[in-house]
Amino acid sequence: MSDPLWTFDDMVSAMKGRPIGAHPPAIGGISIDSRTILPGEAFFAIRGDTFDGHDFAGRALSAGAATAVVSEARLSSLGKVSGSLVVVDDVLGALEKLARASRARSVARVAAVTGSVGKTGTKEMLARALAPEGEVHYSPASFNNHWGVPLTLARMPASARFGIFEIGMNHAGEIEPLTRLVAPHVAIVTTVEPVHLEFFEGIEDIARAKAEIFLGLVPDGVAVVNADNPHAGLLISQARMAGVRRVATFGEARDADARLDVAKLKPECSCVSAEILGEKVTYKLGAPGRHLVQNSLAVLAAVALLGGDLASAALALGSMSAPKGRGERVRLAVPGGGKATLIDESYNANPASMRAAIAILGQAEPAKQGRRIAVLGDMRELGPAASELHAGLAADLVAARVDLVFLAGPLMRALHDVLPATLRGGYAETAADLEPMVAGGIERGDVIMVKGSNASGMWRLVDSLKAELAAEADGDPAQDLA
Ligand SMILES: Nc1ncnc2c1ncn2[C@@H]1O[C@H](COP(=O)(O)OP(=O)(O)OP(=O)(O)O)[C@@H](O)[C@H]1O
Ligand SMILES: [Mg+2]
Repeated sequence: MSDPLWTFDDMVSAMKGRPIGAHPPAIGGISIDSRTILPGEAFFAIRGDTFDGHDFAGRALSAGAATAVVSEARLSSLGKVSGSLVVVDDVLGALEKLARASRARSVARVAAVTGSVGKTGTKEMLARALAPEGEVHYSPASFNNHWGVPLTLARMPASARFGIFEIGMNHAGEIEPLTRLVAPHVAIVTTVEPVHLEFFEGIEDIARAKAEIFLGLVPDGVAVVNADNPHAGLLISQARMAGVRRVATFGEARDADARLDVAKLKPECSCVSAEILGEKVTYKLGAPGRHLVQNSLAVLAAVALLGGDLASAALALGSMSAPKGRGERVRLAVPGGGKATLIDESYNANPASMRAAIAILGQAEPAKQGRRIAVLGDMRELGPAASELHAGLAADLVAARVDLVFLAGPLMRALHDVLPATLRGGYAETAADLEPMVAGGIERGDVIMVKGSNASGMWRLVDSLKAELAAEADGDPAQDLA
């Protein structure tokens, strides 16, 4: 039997908690969700935006939780609960203490990833690249905020050889406490882009906020910076100010430490040769897009800096595939016969990821009379520049040889107004209203790429298209010719 995640005693003493009731021998995992908790896990009654975990502590214990961590202030309001409790002053604070204890006991080499886009993708790619070396622990989904980071860290098994953490932010000051908790050996900033502009004076302030990630680096830790980004200089000087002695850069720039030599961008994958910290590597990336090639340079630099083997890491990247919402390909059955390909990019959007997705559509090869179709929803949180940033996509759509564009949302009107008339497929205020126009417009051999901010609801449009046009699991575009 493998060791438990925590012994009850170690967990309680890390949090300086007060146990009440039974002492379970071991804690198998940490959960903050009573709907998904597994027997033997500890339930932390965290307060979210809309829920307070204390309202679900009883339910978690009935579902088999080994214990529930609750606050002193809410203890009396819990009523009669049967099972073990650990009482603390503040539950989130207790989770952070447990996370700190987890980091302190760990022998893992640790990486932290931030950036305006590409955090999750880079984290997943790095996890894949390190997997041949040994046990890798990494954040699920985008667990990158004030509870996601401590939760992921508290869940790290003592046996993990590598830990990879995504750290995100909407405001200045949010990354610093999280990176100090994670104490990474390697801290990556994927890129700095105009995202969340609403909450910042300008893009330099965004760069400074991302550079907070360097404040948590262990004393001999390395900052990994995108050499091709216009804000690389600012990031590097912030790293120096944070006391970082070693910076490794990645990109196409000739003096980058992880330097791209050649990238062959294909519809379904990329073939890359690069020099990573002095070592030449040639590899295939199992998912397409120049942006993923860029991310892969950061990943391989991190592998080398964490002491992993570059050759096995590079080999592992060949089998990666684009996840749901981030480039996953799905086949659609077109009414009247034939197939079309849906590229599901519906997980969130900002100008940088929108351009990357439009470029991927440009690389795609529609079959016979098939067309490249873009279905785009609003990009939110862009502040006063929003209209301009939306309208600016027209040039990218033309450059990518997109044949038809469907648009949803009030901000996308600015793009609709400047699109060449031949490209206008349809416009609606909402994704739901746009869906029938898109479904009715798809023809045999088309490649359709859907993208928009989460709040724009384009993922619902993807779900409807899949349901309506009887999607099949595999996305082999060669079949479109059938
Ligand atoms: N280097 C990059 N440049 C531009 N776009 C990118 C880059 N890396 C990833 N993307 C695109 O950005 C989108 C979001 O990717 P991902 O989920 O990895 O980002 P994230 O930073 O984790 O986002 P979030 O802040 O929502 O957690 C995807 O569409 C992805 O294809
Ligand atoms: Mg993410």
